[in-house]
Amino acid sequence: MLSFIAAPLLALSLALPAVCTNSRVTRASSEPVAAAWYTGWHATEGFPLSDVSWEKYNTLIYSFAITTPSVYSLSLNGSDPTLLPQFVSEAHQHGVAAHVAIGGWAGGLWFSSNVATAENRTAFVKTVADFAERYDLDGINFDWEYPNDQGIGCNTISANDTTNFLYFLQELRENVGERLTLSAATAVTPFIDATGSPSTDVTGFAEVLDYIAVMNYDIWGPWSTAVGPNAPLNDTCASPGDQDGSAVSAVRDWSAAGMPINQIVLGVASYGHSFSVPPSDAFVSGSTTQLVAYPMFNASNQPLGDAWDDTGSVDACGVYEGPGGDWDFWGLVDGGFLTPEGNPAPGIYYRYDTCSQTPYVYNETSQVMVSFDNAQSFAVKGSYIKETGLRGFAMWEAGGDYKDILLDSIRYTAEFGL
Ligand SMILES: *[C@@H]1O[C@H](CO)[C@@H](O)[C@H](O)[C@H]1NC(C)=O
Ligand SMILES: *[C@@H]1O[C@H](CO)[C@@H](O)[C@H](O)[C@H]1NC(C)=O
Ligand SMILES: *[C@@H]1O[C@H](CO)[C@@H](O)[C@H](O)[C@H]1NC(C)=O
Ligand SMILES: *[C@@H]1O[C@H](CO)[C@@H](O)[C@H](O)[C@H]1NC(C)=O
Ligand SMILES: *[C@@H]1O[C@H](CO)[C@@H](O)[C@H](O)[C@H]1NC(C)=O
Ligand SMILES: *[C@@H]1O[C@H](CO)[C@@H](O)[C@H](O)[C@H]1NC(C)=O
Repeated sequence: MLSFIAAPLLALSLALPAVCTNSRVTRASSEPVAAAWYTGWHATEGFPLSDVSWEKYNTLIYSFAITTPSVYSLSLNGSDPTLLPQFVSEAHQHGVAAHVAIGGWAGGLWFSSNVATAENRTAFVKTVADFAERYDLDGINFDWEYPNDQGIGCNTISANDTTNFLYFLQELRENVGERLTLSAATAVTPFIDATGSPSTDVTGFAEVLDYIAVMNYDIWGPWSTAVGPNAPLNDTCASPGDQDGSAVSAVRDWSAAGMPINQIVLGVASYGHSFSVPPSDAFVSGSTTQLVAYPMFNASNQPLGDAWDDTGSVDACGVYEGPGGDWDFWGLVDGGFLTPEGNPAPGIYYRYDTCSQTPYVYNETSQVMVSFDNAQSFAVKGSYIKETGLRGFAMWEAGGDYKDILLDSIRYTAEFGL
């Protein structure tokens, strides 16, 4: 989950280093995308810029610039504004495109109002273009969660969001030309249209966006009714009640609506979700070792995740939220679920689901079950990208990996010679 660490607001008027402009990934090109989001708030929590494996990516996306009630400004509140110029400079020194993600789960409250009228769209185009120029960015990733589909609970919202978003992107593209890579982080289903259903025609978006990055994670989590896959590759092989979306369904639905396959980037997760599952529910009936699929869990006993988990705080809507229960891949090693090689630790029960192609671990003593991704599931996702002809991958988040076990795995099978 895209939780936010509070930090004091700093003005965006910073002295900027001179950096060379990097070659960019264009719509016309079929250059694969090997990307990850870099979260500014984790720079001082164990993942400084110097820890990024720059040479294994061609795109890094700084997160987040957030929308504000004013169409004339974006805010880097919570994402360390002083770090962004360094991020851009480091990226460029490594020949990597530097993008910024605008929005996120908690940062998209004002997208709808910012694009609601022709006047606001023109102003917001200028705000975004100026921001990109000021920081010498190569691209912008729009992370609106979600047009005409209330996300966090207090977003401005309108039935016309998707149309207005398209008008805005068209005007932005006209304004910036081919200078910027424009992308959107999306749900597994196409943007919700004015009827309240997924759009059936997204060809307009395909014309102005370089690509979409489908956030194929948080498909199942503590808000679900059972322990299911965080980031399923497939769900058409699951029982009908368990088909909540997957990479396969996302590619099917987006491409049916007109998004070319080579403009779809698969969003992949370097973290998982945890659930409290008593042993009586965790195992297949009659077994004391074999984990069951889709067990019930105790929602009133949400386990804490790793050191990066939000232990509970007031969200952007002013509502108190308890612990998220998120475990980064490194956190699973830290927390004793996995060995430093990324395999299940002794005493930990393990299941690999062959439909979703994702693993589960279970500590019977703590009664914590985690649905996550490992080298095997990333390898399968990489193969799927390669075989399907998707544009590439984008990992949330760069700092979640452990010794590049996940990153190396997906790069290898996607056959990106990067
Ligand atoms: C910045 O974040 C802090 C902590 O979440 C919040 O109190 C403050 O209002 C925010 N400022 C702006 C301008 O969003
Ligand atoms: C246009 O943007 C301003 C903020 O700059 C906002 O107050 C106004 O409500 C927006 N218009 C609409 C129709 O949402
Ligand atoms: C949506 O756009 C249509 C056509 O421009 C307009 O008539 C309608 O009032 C808008 N609806 C909302 C909720 O803004
Ligand atoms: C997804 O599941 C369906 C149904 O079992 C199967 O036909 C298809 O090959 C699977 N796709 C992938 C990529 O695993
Ligand atoms: C679920 O967890 C709560 C809080 O720890 C506990 O009070 C309750 O007994 C648990 N329910 C079951 C069915 O175990
Ligand atoms: C399982 O959880 C218990 C209780 O939190 C802990 O003491 C133990 O070390 C864990 N087991 C492993 C293998 O990490």
